Amino acid sequence: MESRVTLRCICGRRCVQFDKICQLNPCVAFIYWIFLPRDMADYTIAILPGDGVGREVSIEAIKILEVIQNHSKYNFDMKVIPCGGQNYLETGEEWAEGSFEFCRDDADAIFLGAIGYPGARLPNGDLAGGSVILGLRSGLELYANVRPIKLYDGVPHKIHGKFTQIWEAGMVDMVVLRENTEGLYHALLRRSADRALGRDAYEPPAMQFPGLDGEVAYDPRPISANGSKRIIDMAFDIANRRKGAPGDGVNRVTCVDKSNVTRGCQLFRRVFDEIGKEHPEKELDYSYIDAFMQWITRNPEHYNVVVTSNMFGDISTDLGAVLQGGMGMAASGNIGDEHAFFEPVHGSAPKHAGLDRVNPIASINSIQMMMDWLGRKHGEDELIAIGKMIDESVAQHLAAGNMLTYDLGGDAKCSEVGDAIASILTDKMKK
Ligand code: IPM
Ligand code: MN
Repeated sequence: MESRVTLRCICGRRCVQFDKICQLNPCVAFIYWIFLPRDMADYTIAILPGDGVGREVSIEAIKILEVIQNHSKYNFDMKVIPCGGQNYLETGEEWAEGSFEFCRDDADAIFLGAIGYPGARLPNGDLAGGSVILGLRSGLELYANVRPIKLYDGVPHKIHGKFTQIWEAGMVDMVVLRENTEGLYHALLRRSADRALGRDAYEPPAMQFPGLDGEVAYDPRPISANGSKRIIDMAFDIANRRKGAPGDGVNRVTCVDKSNVTRGCQLFRRVFDEIGKEHPEKELDYSYIDAFMQWITRNPEHYNVVVTSNMFGDISTDLGAVLQGGMGMAASGNIGDEHAFFEPVHGSAPKHAGLDRVNPIASINSIQMMMDWLGRKHGEDELIAIGKMIDESVAQHLAAGNMLTYDLGGDAKCSEVGDAIASILTDKMKK
């Protein structure tokens, strides 16, 4: 049987938050190393808090993982890895050497808080912390950035600084798959993975642009048939597990591109059409990205599963977040065939950092996605069921409507909302 080293405290818990436990619990002095047989119920989870509010929401994500391990057969060995732009400014490193390898070789799943800090740039101008978020996306081949856009009952929309109900719960329930390894991000993704892996940094070859004089900066936008195929296949797979669009129940898969203009999008659409032929039971649907932005605003109920290229997915899912109550509600999974990391879409929001006020639901729902992914990967239906319970706990909390963070019109703290959802989940898991 496979074995591994696990750090245990005499209290029986796996001690990962050393600083926190040291302060709270003197028994940490008795931590000892022990060889344990690897139990199939054990999963190693890398926690990458990153920058700004990423650090606070990671604590809420850990809270949910702790509830799960306290009330199920599953145990999580959580390893917290400091990283990001802030870490770069403080230590000169985006993360400690060996961190990428830990995520690749030891972690069963990864949670990432947020990356990005004002003024944190590498000498070459790239985002400091890019090795983490972009290095993992490219270096681990996490080709699908899966971003559910679902509006829960009880969630208002903040428009003109006021809270109103624009879209109806039950009418917004789609999943957007954003290609995550190529397109406009390709060169930066590749460079970031090179840095994470200690390879020489990729620079796209110089190009000439007739008619352009003086300094020119450009980003190539390669889109490959293979890269398109793997994400479009996943889009149809996800559609197989869904009930269809909320408006009419049709199991529709929408290809969002700009194939009237770019060659990369023409290839993407051609691959979509080929794969679509293998799925006659699905309705194939098409939208140019510009039109899509107005259609999801006016008729979100039409959409079920949407697949698109990298930058279009980045931009359209921020608008999608507005439909679901804001960035504080938007969860995501960066998923490949072997590895995955899960993160709230909201980013580091430095102006809110350290105030315990941001919405932890995007992170809690990212853990929901992690449980679902781990469950499917390892054939563990119980983990899939736990993922559903997290969703139900969030829904129950929001429907009660009495403890919301500022972005949803309340004044509750991030940690209070985390505690409340953890407590609903605890009750459900005890049953
Ligand atoms: C996201 C973010 C990232 C991206 C940034 C932080 C590099 O906006 O995950 O959507 O552009 O992909
Ligand atoms: Mn983004």
